[in-house]
Amino acid sequence: MSQLIFVTGASSGIGQALAWRYYQAGYALALVARRTDEMQTWATQRGLDPARYQIYSADVAEVDSIVAAAQLCLQRQGVPDVVIANAGVSIGMDTAVREDLAVMIRVFAINNVGLAATFHAFIDPMAQRGSGALVGIGSVAGIRGLPGHGAYCASKAAVISYCESLRGELRDSGVQVLTICPGYIDTPLTQKNRYAMPFLMSADVFADKAFAAIRGGATYRVIPWQMGWVAKGLRVLPNWLFDRVLSGRPRKRRVTEG
Ligand SMILES: NC(=O)c1ccc[n+]([C@@H]2O[C@H](COP(=O)([O-])OP(=O)(O)OC[C@H]3O[C@@H](n4cnc5c(N)ncnc54)[C@H](OP(=O)(O)O)[C@@H]3O)[C@@H](O)[C@H]2O)c1
Repeated sequence: MSQLIFVTGASSGIGQALAWRYYQAGYALALVARRTDEMQTWATQRGLDPARYQIYSADVAEVDSIVAAAQLCLQRQGVPDVVIANAGVSIGMDTAVREDLAVMIRVFAINNVGLAATFHAFIDPMAQRGSGALVGIGSVAGIRGLPGHGAYCASKAAVISYCESLRGELRDSGVQVLTICPGYIDTPLTQKNRYAMPFLMSADVFADKAFAAIRGGATYRVIPWQMGWVAKGLRVLPNWLFDRVLSGRPRKRRVTEG
């Protein structure tokens, strides 16, 4: 029987590219997102063998919804070998604007609680089997706080810390926990950005590198590698210099800016 990957955010960008990469490697797919039509159209266009994929409708911001999808996957397709909590949103915020606090709640619900809820149902069966990989998609934006991007940066910093906690908890279980931090990847999420995106990488190339990192047993990986060095540099940059470098940089679009 082929190995199985459960991936959220499979209706677009990185999730779709990861699904394709794993399909090419012979895996069966559990594709998860809210837009099931997008996933079905994509699967048909790519000529996927219907015996090798299932589509699950879930909103990761609703714990019951994503847990139900995970349980259905366990019933229909079995215990996955790889679970990738990839669904995420990136929205700018201004703390002085009341509506943007709701944006922050939403970003945390999707990027953080949604990520943990994606893993939840798989932890016991994977640990009982003694194998598998739980992959959290963080971001280089989680390394330092970027002006105008407080909700997203905070959420991705939380992804990095949360996955590290989980890694320690599952250390002796045989289940690998991995954080992947993308730099700038060319997807609908970044196509609206109004600032320069150094080392921009296609989603397919990203997926190939992520696949290799997961298979190679990494615990933390920044992709592309150049952004790994940027991330290391950002960590040690003194605050006064960091603030000066970021000063005047165009900000991420807020929800009312479309
Ligand atoms: N692109 C980059 O440069 C970059 C950089 C760093 C990190 N990342 C991270 O990589 C991940 C994927 O991003 P992307 O660039 O591929 O973005 P994208 O093209 O906008 O795709 C986002 C995916 O997340 C899903 N999603 C959003 N909200 C959801 C919800 N409430 N419930 C279920 N699914 C939801 C969307 O599916 P539906 O709308 O169909 O539900 C979609 O499939 C995100 O976590 C993002 O933060 C991306």
